[in-house]
Amino acid sequence: MSRAFLCAAALLVAALAAAAVPPQRPESEAERAARMKWWTEARFGLFIHWGLYALPARHEWVKSREKMTDEAYAKYFDHFDPDLYDPRAWARAAREAGMKYFVVTTKHHDGFCLWDSELTDYKVTNTPCGRDLIGPLVEAMRAEGLRVGFYHSLLDWHHPEYTVDAHHPRRDDKAFVEKARGRDLTKYAAYLHGQVRELLTGFGRIDTLFMDYSFPGPGGKGRREWRSEELIRMIRELQPGLIVNDRLDLLDVPGGWDYRTPEQFMPREWVKVDGKPVPWETCQTFSGSWGYHRDESSWKSVRQLVVMLIETVSKGGNLLLNVGPTARGEFDDRALDRLRGIGRWMARNSRSIYGCTQAPAEFGKPAGALLTYHPGTGRLYVHVLEWPLGVLALDGLAGRVEYAQLLHDGSEVAFTEKGGSTGFLPGERGREGENTLTLRLPVVKPDVEVPVVELYLKKGR
Ligand code: GLC
Repeated sequence: MSRAFLCAAALLVAALAAAAVPPQRPESEAERAARMKWWTEARFGLFIHWGLYALPARHEWVKSREKMTDEAYAKYFDHFDPDLYDPRAWARAAREAGMKYFVVTTKHHDGFCLWDSELTDYKVTNTPCGRDLIGPLVEAMRAEGLRVGFYHSLLDWHHPEYTVDAHHPRRDDKAFVEKARGRDLTKYAAYLHGQVRELLTGFGRIDTLFMDYSFPGPGGKGRREWRSEELIRMIRELQPGLIVNDRLDLLDVPGGWDYRTPEQFMPREWVKVDGKPVPWETCQTFSGSWGYHRDESSWKSVRQLVVMLIETVSKGGNLLLNVGPTARGEFDDRALDRLRGIGRWMARNSRSIYGCTQAPAEFGKPAGALLTYHPGTGRLYVHVLEWPLGVLALDGLAGRVEYAQLLHDGSEVAFTEKGGSTGFLPGERGREGENTLTLRLPVVKPDVEVPVVELYLKKGR
């Protein structure tokens, strides 16, 4: 093969690859950070998984898990009537928990749409409910000061052109699979794009979009099947300020995603891509299921959830915590109990969460505590998970702290540093290392889920 031919072939490949990249002007890191500023400062959002699966009340994947036919699943469509739905109550509960944004399922994998889409009949307005559920929620959340996010499923187990794959409810039904062989997935992709267009043009400014999910590879579906490059281009054009997640299978495409989404999983450290820390958000459930699950009993405690939020922020991430509302349209008591408990803690301690991030590495990690840091105010927050007996030693902080207080009540916390006395034995000195600052805490743990010590660092260092 001639060199010229190889060269021409290489150029063609490069041109094709370039065509796959969204054609916007590349965004600088600073521009991206500015676009995402509200989101990184917010730190805490509400995920809502709501749909027909609230009726069977045994996981949002029930149609796939139990390999249901459309006919079997139709009974939930025919009986969907959330008569107690009060979006203002949901919005209030979210705000009082300290959440700053929300993400609601407009459509989950079962294909059921919660808004009045013009592109399908498989929507809420055709159920006994008979009305759009998304518009009023968006309005109520905005009224409580929350930013608006949509979750939209890439999978669709109802659409007649969606090809049967390993997750499809009818995957084991030979006759069905045979009949479905002629399905044209490009028609489904057009429908998907059309619906995303509806969502991004019908409800005003949308702040975040959570597309879910890709499983590329043999028999799977990814960027080729979803036509993800085209889709992200349209998304960016329709809502240039919007923040989009990482599940379109475009991780290697510039502008193809804004943040990583570890699911039901606490990363060990700040999430990195190619060795560089990136924006990330972990989505988590109260109990394991995203949709309302009546019989699940493995609910996390308020304390576990508060610690989860702190730990997420201590590693530079966001927490998107999920509620699966009931078929009547309510947050159930278990969810409300957790939200209120978190809200109780947030009411007095949110200063250690909003706008905060991982503490600079020079401050050592104290045992039994988690640190967060506010770069704007220069304050360091020590979340004391294991209440110690009287003293808490902090490395790297001697000479750095101007004032210390318990955050929930603003009561002073005394400290000694650099070989000072711990104050327990008269005249006892020199027990601390050169760089250690020792907080002197009350013996009795304050009556707070997780007490926080706020350290005002000296300016100009
Ligand atoms: C997964 C699941 C889904 C859930 C989502 C939340 O992709 O398929 O049920 O909606 O994660 O992140």
